[in-house]
Amino acid sequence: MPSLRDAARGRILFGGDYNPEQWPEEVWEDDVRLMKEAGVNSVTLGVFSWARIEPRPGAREFGWLDRLMDLLHANGIGVVLATPTASPPPWMGARHPETLPRTEDGSVVWYGSRQQFCPSSPVYRRYAAALTEDLAARYADHPALTVWHINNEYCTHCWCDETAAHFRRWLRTRYGTVEELNAAWGTAFWSQRYDSWTEILPPRTAQYMKNPTQVLDFKRFTSDALMECYVAERDIVARHTPRVPVTTNFMPLWSGQDAWAWAAQEDIVSVDIYPDSRDPRGGQYNAMIADMTRSQAGGPWMLMEQATGAVNWRDVNRPKPEGLNRLWSLQSVARGADAVCYFQWRQSRQGSEKFHSAMVGHAGEEGRAFAEVKRLGRELAALGPAVAGGEVPADVAVLHDWDAWWAGAQEGRPSSLLDYTEVIRRWHGALWESGVVTEFARPDADLSRFKVVVVPHLYLLGDGAVDNLVAYAEGGGTVVCGFFSGIADVDDRIRPGGMDARLRDLFGIRTLHDWWPLDADASVECDGFRGTLWSEELTAAADAEVVSSYRSGELAGLPAVLRRGRARYVSTLPEPDALRALLAEVVREAGARPVLAGLPAGVEAVRRGELLFLLHHGRGSVTVEVPGAHEDLLTGTSVEDRVELGRFGVAVLRSAAP
Ligand code: GAL
Repeated sequence: MPSLRDAARGRILFGGDYNPEQWPEEVWEDDVRLMKEAGVNSVTLGVFSWARIEPRPGAREFGWLDRLMDLLHANGIGVVLATPTASPPPWMGARHPETLPRTEDGSVVWYGSRQQFCPSSPVYRRYAAALTEDLAARYADHPALTVWHINNEYCTHCWCDETAAHFRRWLRTRYGTVEELNAAWGTAFWSQRYDSWTEILPPRTAQYMKNPTQVLDFKRFTSDALMECYVAERDIVARHTPRVPVTTNFMPLWSGQDAWAWAAQEDIVSVDIYPDSRDPRGGQYNAMIADMTRSQAGGPWMLMEQATGAVNWRDVNRPKPEGLNRLWSLQSVARGADAVCYFQWRQSRQGSEKFHSAMVGHAGEEGRAFAEVKRLGRELAALGPAVAGGEVPADVAVLHDWDAWWAGAQEGRPSSLLDYTEVIRRWHGALWESGVVTEFARPDADLSRFKVVVVPHLYLLGDGAVDNLVAYAEGGGTVVCGFFSGIADVDDRIRPGGMDARLRDLFGIRTLHDWWPLDADASVECDGFRGTLWSEELTAAADAEVVSSYRSGELAGLPAVLRRGRARYVSTLPEPDALRALLAEVVREAGARPVLAGLPAGVEAVRRGELLFLLHHGRGSVTVEVPGAHEDLLTGTSVEDRVELGRFGVAVLRSAAP
């Protein structure tokens, strides 16, 4: 199977989305000159070029792309070539309005922006396949081609009639009979029973709360329907170029695609990461997405897009202060990225993204953005041979699952304040701050290589996943599980007793009486810490140890944290310091270690292959103790026993030979 290694060839890919169709051809020469100056070795072409290549149905205008492919190749720049199927031209919507998605209430999503296609539309799929076929045939043997990039951030949702028919086909495969579907969806409730397949619809706008299992299945279906579009195009390009790796870029922690399932269909897993430059925890967010993407890839991954500075889609869009782009880029490399790419190469002068930063901003080659890009390009070139392909060891797994997210994030639950991604972020953040490198894993994955498995919050756990977790614990593994987990089965049916009996047994919960979610900003006192967001009324089994009890409110005296053997259950969300302390203790007890002990605040240490990355997220200066003699690959200097890191400073150390 082709992989990122084939494209990177011992280098770190460096570059970005290149949209030359927005510029006169004279600018292309200048682009290439600046790319070479910056050490760019890879650009992504064609992402939004459909209307340029196929200006009217069936037309093909490849001449401009031929010239670009040749120009880039002549200058030693590889091309990640996109199938431009994310944004159909207006002619498609005008001639084939049935390709336009419809919202839950039946409104049409019109052209005039991007991504306006119904994934179930046979007409859209036919045009997309025909174009992909011709694109692949034309460039199969072009020496510039290094990676196929299918579509872009698959994210459309549609509730139209074509979708309804497709959804029914998907449901037939899942359930076989309408009676099975009725049983799974619990349609005895509110007179929702279906008498035939033709009555079944996607969950459209309704009078009151929708059937939760119908909603869950629709989310599963939508991820699968989009994946069919991806697989269809992937198969076309792979037929032409079996040795060129294929990817599609994920959005991070995006609920619309089950990235575990998708990643299994890709040669390269790639992602677009846009931490908020104003977020003091932006570094943790970047680390979390890097860990998640590396876990999906099972190794090196591709940072397909990030911003050199400001984005243009938040309420307030501020640039990255000097050095932050470099820090977060090298952090991604530390955590397994073998490609550091941006949206986009040259900042647009027109269109919706003209205020979005780029590698070459409006200030051009004199601008700070480009100066920082050049520095990073040099540094990545220096690091490439030592770092590319290197592995990032991790002893601790964080479980994460789309089914659980989809089922849990619905109406009619105990608290709408419970935000799945925020809970994941808090648990990952607690480990990150303790200097413990984590991987993410799906609940039914082989967990045997991890010393600790952390379950921040998995509302839904299928039987297989429960068996897996219990088997891991019985095999000697350490499990820490957060509140409101193991509540529902795969059909979102509440488990007898309110929580899976095997899990209650594992954690030493005798009876789970009720859930007591907290108000925003409220907290509950427990022995040794304060809990937030959630609390639970439960009693402990006779042989369980009560690690901490609630001390205030209705639950005073009842267990907050329980332990049975190596398994722990945390029935609230401890405040950040407390969660960090709790997880640090678990990790220590299980024999897992932070990468470096005694780091100054704000310094992150990550090992990748034989290298030690030290990343300083603060603005002052710090000294990090690193016993022994090392070479800093970024400066080419020798370092002994300690290294100074300035504002957003980074060192990449290799032990000097004894
Ligand atoms: C991504 C997208 C790019 C660009 C970027 C702006 O979601 O793939 O095309 O729009 O965001 O941040």
